[in-house]
Amino acid sequence: MSTVRHFLEIDDVSTDELRAILDRADEYKRAQADGQDHEDLEGQTLGMIFQKPSTRTRVSFETGLTQLGGHAVFLGEDDIQLGRGEPLKDTSRTLSRYVDAVMARVFKHENIEVFADYADVPVVNGLTDDAHPCQTLADLQTIRELEGGFEDVEAAWIGDGNNVAQSFTVGCALTDIDLTVATPDGYGLDDDVVERARQLGGDPTLTDDPVAAASGADVIYTDVWISMGQEDERDVRMNAFEGFQVCSDLLSQAPDASVMHCLPAHRGEEITDEVIESDRSIVFDQAENRLHAQKALLSWLLE
Ligand code: CP
Ligand code: NVA
Repeated sequence: MSTVRHFLEIDDVSTDELRAILDRADEYKRAQADGQDHEDLEGQTLGMIFQKPSTRTRVSFETGLTQLGGHAVFLGEDDIQLGRGEPLKDTSRTLSRYVDAVMARVFKHENIEVFADYADVPVVNGLTDDAHPCQTLADLQTIRELEGGFEDVEAAWIGDGNNVAQSFTVGCALTDIDLTVATPDGYGLDDDVVERARQLGGDPTLTDDPVAAASGADVIYTDVWISMGQEDERDVRMNAFEGFQVCSDLLSQAPDASVMHCLPAHRGEEITDEVIESDRSIVFDQAENRLHAQKALLSWLLE
C-alpha cells in the first residue's frame, strides 16, 4: 500500500489547500484568456477510466492535459480488461507502472477506494455514486468568481441528495458557505456526509421545503432526479420529486439568485428550459471551470 495523495472526496484537501487549488485554477483561466502557455505537466500521462458515460469530465480532463503539455488516455471499461473481470487492484497496480495519475469514474465509491489503495500514483475521483469532488472544485471556483468570495454566500441545494449534492455540501463546509439542502423524504444526504460537514465547521440546514430553501439564496443548485444507474427507479423518483423543480415560480423566492446545475440537465424535470436558458443560469460557467479547476488539481497533485 502506498502513501501517495489522492482526491477521492472534496475533503481530501484542507481548506487552505482547497483555496490554493482554486487560486491556481483562476491563474490558469487568466493565462488561457491571455493566450499564455502553461505546460506544467509536460511529458505526464493521465489514465482515465470510465464505467459511466461523460461529456464534461472526459473532455475537460483530456483537453486540460493537452493544454498543460501532457497526454490523457481514455480507458472505457469495455475497452480494457476491467470489463472482462480483471480485478481493480490489478488494473490499479498495472496502470501505476505506466501513467503519472489516474482519473476514474465508477459506480460504487468503495471501488475507487480499493483502486486508490493499490495505486502508486494519485487517483482522482471523476464521479462515483456517492461523490463528485471535481464538480465541487469547479462549483466553488464559479461561486467565488460570481460573489467575489465565500463570505456571506447563501446557497440552496434543491432536489436529490445525490453524489453532486454530497460533495457540494462538504465543499460548502470547507469554505463557510451557508447551505440549505431541500430534499424529499428518503432522498436526503447520507448521514456520514452531514456529520463530515459538521466536523468541518459547517451547519447545513436540512429541510423538505424547496420554497423555504430558495428564499433569499444567492445561488440555487439542482441536479437530475435520476442519476446514472438509477434508471429503473424512474417512476418512483418522478413522483417523489414533485414540487422540487427549479422553475420561475420557485425563483421568485430568490430574486437575486443565480442558478447552478452540474449538467447534463433533464429540462422539464428538475429544471425548466426557461430557467436554464435565462440570464440567471451560470451552468456553462460551471462547465467551463471544470477545465481550469482540474488542471489546477492535477498540477497541484503532481508537482
Ligand atoms: N457534470 C459532469 O460530470 O458531466 P459529465 O457527466 O458530462 O462528465
Ligand atoms: N448525479 C448525476 C451527475 C452527473 C454528472 C449522475 O450521477 O448521473
